[in-house]
Amino acid sequence: MAKVKRAYFCKNCGYEAPKWLGRCPACGEWNTFTEEILARDTGSVPAAVAGKLPAVRPQRVGEIRGEERRRTGLGIAEVDRVLGGGAVPGSLILLGGEPGIGKSTLSLQIALAANGLRTLYVSGEESAEQIRMRAARLGIGNEECLVYPETRLENILSQIEEQKPDLVVIDSIQTVSTDTVDSSAGSVSQIRECAAALLRYAKATDTTIVIIGHITKDGIIAGPKILEHIVDVVLQFEGDGNYTYRILRGIKNRFGATFEIGVFEMLDDGLHGVENPSEILLSHYDEPLSGISVGAAVDGVRPYLIEVQALVSGAAYGTPQRSATGHDVRRMNMLLAVLEKRLGMKMFQKDVFLNFAGGFRVSDPGLDLAVVAAVVSSYFDRPIAEGSCFAGEIGLSGEVRPAPRSEQRIAEAARLGFRRIVVSGYLAANVRRPKGIEVLTVQHIGQLPRLLFAEE
Ligand code: TYD
Ligand code: MG
Repeated sequence: MAKVKRAYFCKNCGYEAPKWLGRCPACGEWNTFTEEILARDTGSVPAAVAGKLPAVRPQRVGEIRGEERRRTGLGIAEVDRVLGGGAVPGSLILLGGEPGIGKSTLSLQIALAANGLRTLYVSGEESAEQIRMRAARLGIGNEECLVYPETRLENILSQIEEQKPDLVVIDSIQTVSTDTVDSSAGSVSQIRECAAALLRYAKATDTTIVIIGHITKDGIIAGPKILEHIVDVVLQFEGDGNYTYRILRGIKNRFGATFEIGVFEMLDDGLHGVENPSEILLSHYDEPLSGISVGAAVDGVRPYLIEVQALVSGAAYGTPQRSATGHDVRRMNMLLAVLEKRLGMKMFQKDVFLNFAGGFRVSDPGLDLAVVAAVVSSYFDRPIAEGSCFAGEIGLSGEVRPAPRSEQRIAEAARLGFRRIVVSGYLAANVRRPKGIEVLTVQHIGQLPRLLFAEE
């Protein structure tokens, strides 16, 4: 008899266990486990050998016929950029993000954009009236946009069949449910069933479907991670609620690179694409201030310049305070330890605060040099020479290593009119150094302080 593989899932958080548990070890909820069938095991004999020949046969890769997949622009430049030049018809796109970050706004803007696509905007979270009010605020460029407040999958699918839209937005997958599954909307099996049904529809009819998924604070798409495996493209919308900037990040893309990011600003009339992120991440001061440096960063493949602020002050208590906004505190502590050990700076007596402009979260090790420059500048209370920026990674022995994509960083700094950029002395000789910008090199952080400050 064929064996059936089963697993138990926590309805609350999606945790998977091989046996039933009374209490979920991940989220601590009681009585949330349900049994689900994962796959039917037909034994070790492949289906083909057992008499059922597969419909598709292996082919030589060069002989596979098929036209280049055309892409359709969604009418918002930053979104198309992240998708790699537009959406591929028939693809299922997951747009994830924390509540309130702007997923509904972005997807409604896509639906309303003048992209010539017949669009069905399905909302399980807002009424038609609420959507109309929001649409009026955003401006309607697409008269072909249909709004449909509904949560039952069967109804949604029959409307898709009737209306034959080119683009469908489902806001959100956690509110949609199908009659074939008993559990409530938002449960693991509901989400999985609905997403799988939408995927089949997207493929069969060449319709692009965007589904919105809520993400919990720790970055997990609430409910199942499984969703990420089903869909073709995963986009994540990020940002700090206290600031207006938002980043749209491609995490997975079956039809293109995943490294692109889109930058937006949330204003009263919706999200506006930011073509030059550097311009909003750099402040202009009348007088040079200490503790401020500029880092040449790269996020994915996109270079931008960002202001780094550090405040180093005498520690009032025995244990110095260390805090970083938008940056990994452990990385900062490592850099401070390197400064202490290699430059003899007395960091153990200092409180250190670090801040990146715009509420941006950065994890680019190429910003190490800029962080250290800001800390050194604040420590000695001397401003960094005007027009300088930094790109380099710092190792434990204080060596400065080339940052990935250094060429792009240098080019971006030159484009924005920076007069000099400090990079690693180990940078390959063939890296292009554009005219108009002085490229200074350091091999060890010990050589950094003398390059930092203007001659007096
Ligand atoms: P929303 O798209 O509802 O977030 P999500 O769907 O991810 O939960 O956006 C929520 C926030 O965006 C809300 O706090 C108000 C703000 N907002 C603006 O600032 N400007 C606008 O034009 C719109 C529509 C929303
Ligand atoms: Mg929403």
